[in-house]
Amino acid sequence: MSFEVSGMHDMSNKEAKRASYKLLQEQVQSLLQGERDWLANLAQFSALIYGAVPDLNWAGFYMAHGEELVLGPFQGKVACVRIPFSRGVCGACARTREILVVEDVHAVPDHIACDSASQSELVLPMIVNGQLRAVFDMDSPTLARFDEYDGQGMANALAVLIQATDWD
Ligand code: SME
Repeated sequence: MSFEVSGMHDMSNKEAKRASYKLLQEQVQSLLQGERDWLANLAQFSALIYGAVPDLNWAGFYMAHGEELVLGPFQGKVACVRIPFSRGVCGACARTREILVVEDVHAVPDHIACDSASQSELVLPMIVNGQLRAVFDMDSPTLARFDEYDGQGMANALAVLIQATDWD
């Protein structure tokens, strides 16, 4: 199989960002076509995001197990494996089920530093049929790399993944 990952080069303004994320959604759809296995699809999704979204040093899933997050498919350097819901930005996302945009990770006392290169972070909840299955975490070596449009664009990409996958 060959799949060309188109990078999202123009993130210069709101409209360019929106268009880039629209393209990303189409790429997710086309990449996952014909495969509904959750582990395979989460692995492919992580690799696609890491390759297509500029200026990342980590992208991946933490799976929800009770009140704890456990490392799932990801791209980037090795990371912490278990994060309780009570800790870190990922834990806060799991607790609140809200999209969290962190402009400067050093300003968040609770931030868990897996890679000292990380400066900013975006974390999204992945909710399937009302149940929190995972959070998707993205780290960047650039301060204030993410904004609400990245949050919305990634939520749309995750929605495509959720629809394309069997969860039981
Ligand atoms: N920074 C996250 C931990 C996960 S790593 O960045 C991959 C947090 O504070 O929850």
